[in-house]
This record gives sequence, structure tokens and C-alpha cells, in this order.
Amino acid sequence: MSILITGGAGFIGSHTCVEILDAGYDVVVVDNLSNSSRKALERVEKITGKTLKFYEADVRNTDALRKIFSENSIDAVIHFAGYKAVGESVREPLKYYDNNIGCTVSLLSVMDEFGVKRIVFSSSATVYGIPEKMPITEEMPLSAINPYGRTKLFIEEILRDRYNADNGWSIALLRYFNPIGAHKSGLIGESPKGIPNNLMPFISQVAVGRLTELHVFGDDYNTSDGTGSRDYIHVVDLAKGHVKAIEWAFTHTGCEAFNLGTGKGTTVMELRDAFVRASGVDIPYVIDPRRPGDLDELYASCDKAKSVLGWEATLNINDMCKDTWLWQRDNPNGYD
Ligand code: NAD
Ligand code: UFG
Repeated sequence: MSILITGGAGFIGSHTCVEILDAGYDVVVVDNLSNSSRKALERVEKITGKTLKFYEADVRNTDALRKIFSENSIDAVIHFAGYKAVGESVREPLKYYDNNIGCTVSLLSVMDEFGVKRIVFSSSATVYGIPEKMPITEEMPLSAINPYGRTKLFIEEILRDRYNADNGWSIALLRYFNPIGAHKSGLIGESPKGIPNNLMPFISQVAVGRLTELHVFGDDYNTSDGTGSRDYIHVVDLAKGHVKAIEWAFTHTGCEAFNLGTGKGTTVMELRDAFVRASGVDIPYVIDPRRPGDLDELYASCDKAKSVLGWEATLNINDMCKDTWLWQRDNPNGYD
């Protein structure tokens, strides 16, 4: 069985390539390397001892996709390709609509041409907007609070319409909470370009001296220590969730959303302290004002993923910090 992984050279994509190869599938990756490196795929091959097929192409390019589908017998697709920086999406919304929605429409049209009807899509907890209560369950109301989130919401709707028009499709909408961590080999991990927007890469870059101190955005939230709380999930657990979703897609039809998180919140200061313990390196910090748009806390109910997919997270915050540290220590400049 052959799985096409769009955006497979990226952070979550590369870890998913490892798990999908280890599960015995053949892997074909399409990525334009706009936010990733070919080296990640070489390291996937090193970790697994298996080879994958790589096409450097833009997923919006339907001719390039047609070539990939004609040269390979694709059975299912995992679709990661897209942009993900919330702040940038506010400044440059059209770039996000063009890339995130453009990739999906192009991909679905070529899948249609080739009769491939199984897709696992990278959605996000952002589709819950400002949730009224915790934990967040899949049937809670959806809304968008920025253009990035709106692309995820629209793509979910496009995929639901696709299923409604042809019930032969299998569509898994995976709503990730906060993916962090790295493969335990230290060979692949998160390698953001420029100054990181997200908390964990910021902490790990302070640890290796690329940045001087952590800026904690607000200490007056309604949480145990006043700093924001999120449901961090180890990227390897997340990647294994994609294997379960692919197995589901091979045995079911439908369009179903699944939260992938741990069900537990961790505050900014708790994550910083856990990283200091795991690395033995001090992380100096300053308290800054709140970042606009941030919520007090967010955590998932993952009961549906457990009961339907047979998946649950197994790695804890200490594992996430230990593995991030190993990756960042051995690759202080990421893949550069
Ligand atoms: P990433 O940027 O590391 O990976 C995305 C990959 O897609 C990159 O390799 C990039 O080069 C590629 N890409 C982008 N546009 C492309 C195009 N037009 N054609 C071909 N390739 C293209 O990001 P990630 O963290 O691995 O996220 C993967 C997916 O998961 C994204 O869709 C993201 O929105 C979603 N997601 C991420 C998070 C997170 O916190 N990391 C949370 C929720 C959802
Ligand atoms: N934070 C800091 N300092 C930093 C970065 C973040 O204190 O330098 C805090 C934030 O205020 C927040 C927490 O750390 O309380 C986590 O922030 P991240 O930026 O790491 O993650 P978010 O929860 O804000 O955003 C993530 C993804 C989004 C996605 C969202 C869904 O990055 O793409 O989860 O809820 F939309």
C-alpha cells in the first residue's frame, strides 16, 4: 500500500513518514521545501532503514500532482502541506487562502481524477475558536479567530462537502492540539525559519544560546500559576495517530473529526521548568504583556480518538522536553 504525504518534509510530516514506513506502507512525499529541508527526508530514511520517494513540487500544481499519481499507485493521502503562522496569516491573509485552500482543492481534484478517496487532513484545535468549556470535544461549535484558523475551518467544510457528494470517501480530520518534541534519535525535529512563534522552539533556542531569554506572554491568566496553559502532545504520538487514522480510512467510509492531544494542560512556566530539569540548562525569562488573541487554557477530550481509532498519547511532558533537547543540542541550527 502506498501513501502520498504532502508536506512530508516538515516537522509533523517527517515524523509521520517514520511511523508510516515503520507500519509497512510505501511512502511518496510531495513538498516544495518552502518551510523544510530535504535533509529531514534523508534522516527519515536513516532512522527507518527504508527508502521513500520524493517529489519537489508545489501541491497547487495539478500537473505535478498528475505526474505523481500516474507514476505511483497511491492508495491514500495524508495532507500536511500548508502555511501555519497565525501572525503572518493576519498580515498576509491572501497568501494563506491561496496556499492552504489552493493546495487542498488541487489535491482533491487530482485524487478525484485517479479515483483515490481516502484522505487524512491536518486540522487544528484553532477550529474551536474561543471554546466555552474544557475539555474540548469534537461536537463543540466551530469558529475562526484569524485567517489561518479560517483556512482550516474552510478546508474542513470543503472535505465535508466532498464526502456529502460521494459517500464512498474516507476523510479523517485530525485536530491537533500543541505538537512539540522530536524523534528520540535526535535526528529529526522542529526547525523553524527565523525567530520561533511557538513556545517550545523558543525555549530550546534559548537553551542553545541562539536567543537570550524566554518572553512569557502574561502571568495574569486564570490558571494555576497565571501563565497560559496548553495541551502539548509529543510529535511521535501525533505521528502514530496518523497511522491509526490511515487504518481507519482503509476500513471505513465517512468524514470524521478527531482531537489529538493528551487531555492535560501544562502552563508556560511548567513547561519551562520541565525543560530546565530535562536539559540541565537554565532558561532565563522575563514576563511580558499578554499576546493578543491568546486564551487562558485549552485542552482536549481525546475519548473519540481512543474509542474509534484505538489511539491515545503515551508520552509525557518530560519525554517531550528530553527529546526536544536532544534534537536541539545535536542540531543547534536545525537543518541549516
Ligand atoms: P511545517 O511547516 O513544518 O510543514 C508543512 C510542510 O508543507 C513544509 O515542509 C512545507 O515546505 C510544505 N508546504 C507548504 N506549502 C506547500 C505547497 N504549496 N506545496 C508543497 N509543499 C508545501 O508545519 P508542521 O508543523 O509540520 O504542520 C503540518 C500541518 O499541520 C500544517 O498543515 C499545519 O497547519 C498543521 N498544524 C500544525 C500545528 C503545529 O503547531 N505545528 C498545529 C495544528 C495543525
Ligand atoms: N508563549 C509564550 N512565549 C512565547 C511563545 C508562546 O509565553 O515566546 C505562550 C503563549 O502565550 C501560550 C503558550 O505559550 O500561552 C503556547 O503558545 P504557542 O504559540 O506555542 O501555541 P498556541 O497555543 O498559541 O498556538 C498553537 C499553534 C497554532 C494553533 C493553536 C491552536 O501554533 O497554529 O495552537 O490552538 F492555531
